[in-house]
Amino acid sequence: MASPWWQRAVVYQLYPRSFSDSNGDGVGDLRGVVDRLDYLEWLGVGGLWLNPIHPSPNADWGYDVADYCDVHPELGTLADADRLIAAANRRGIEIVLDLVPGHTSDEHPWFSDASKRGWYIWSDEAREGTSVFGGPSWTERDGAWYFHAFHAKQPNVNWLNDEVRDAFDRILRFWFDRGVAGFRIDVSHDFVRDGEGHVRRDLTHDVLRSWRRIADEYDPPRVLIGETWVHDLAELMTFYGQGDELHMAFNFPFLFASLEELGAVAARTEALLPEGAWPIWALSNHDVVRFPTRMCDGDEAKVRRALRILLSLRGTPVLYQGDELGLEQVAVPPDRIRDVAERDGCRTPIPWTRSGGWREPWLPLGDTSRNVEDERSDPASVLNLVRELIAARSTHV
Ligand code: GLC
Ligand code: CA
Repeated sequence: MASPWWQRAVVYQLYPRSFSDSNGDGVGDLRGVVDRLDYLEWLGVGGLWLNPIHPSPNADWGYDVADYCDVHPELGTLADADRLIAAANRRGIEIVLDLVPGHTSDEHPWFSDASKRGWYIWSDEAREGTSVFGGPSWTERDGAWYFHAFHAKQPNVNWLNDEVRDAFDRILRFWFDRGVAGFRIDVSHDFVRDGEGHVRRDLTHDVLRSWRRIADEYDPPRVLIGETWVHDLAELMTFYGQGDELHMAFNFPFLFASLEELGAVAARTEALLPEGAWPIWALSNHDVVRFPTRMCDGDEAKVRRALRILLSLRGTPVLYQGDELGLEQVAVPPDRIRDVAERDGCRTPIPWTRSGGWREPWLPLGDTSRNVEDERSDPASVLNLVRELIAARSTHV
């Protein structure tokens, strides 16, 4: 039996607002992604994971979803999403979307619908607790308090309610039916909370198993990739279940290791992986300082070493957009910071040319000496190294 696409592919994490802008409004969009499929095909990636593309007030840049079954107008339309899926598939590239099940936007119609009060976590009295972004995790609205693990504009969803489960089952099917190859599941280690906001791991696993059954109904089966932000590798392994939960669980101990430790963490991971389970590796993402800055002090020789490790391990490597250029963290000036947790420096636009290739982008570009055009034409560039490493993998998988 041939292995599934996600075991053969290198996956590219694409942050849509900062990838490619087709209409010059300064915000990357889905048509911009279609315009750049040539580049992604040339690079050799087999899957794109797109950060959230849905309508959102952007209190947490798309992770506060106001409608799971539509596209943010700044990024395009549902028809653009369909066109992207089709155009990518024609080039042998699969599309993976981000699924945010832990919370919606407070501007999601569910939240103001009185008949759906039981879809969120409410308390009649103020409760103690601190949110991940700082500040209280309970916020008052019309005389009652709702729980939010993150921003006050991200009320947590009540997973103890079966109607919520049904609603998300429909969301999964909505996108799977459109040809989406899978989901990266946000906060997949603790999105299920009880009435007091406490994590319910047992039920988290239960929901993951029910989604795996849905993913397996499809031909080919859809893939579930978890943002399992846990620091203990043994605990990480529990999210593979008995081969009936996540297909791949993101490995944060690997991502946060030093360059010198990467090999050892990879070996420990392999030793702990359950029979038949498939590892996934990433060095950067949209929440952390870019690896060339964090792990390599900007030293290009070290950047090359890290990329060689990432792209030669057994498993699925994920490149965060810009990793292929050796892009460093950008020092975003304080007056240009847009994110509540100031993660902007890893979310700046991709420099396509020395002058950037953007018209007034929503975040500043930073240093454009590493850019696609120049690196593409330089056989000795980091970009061409990454392309060669990807090509070399494809002869082994
Ligand atoms: C995940 C996302 C992050 C977001 C958070 C809350 O960690 O990767 O960007 O802020 O969830 O949704
Ligand atoms: Ca645009």
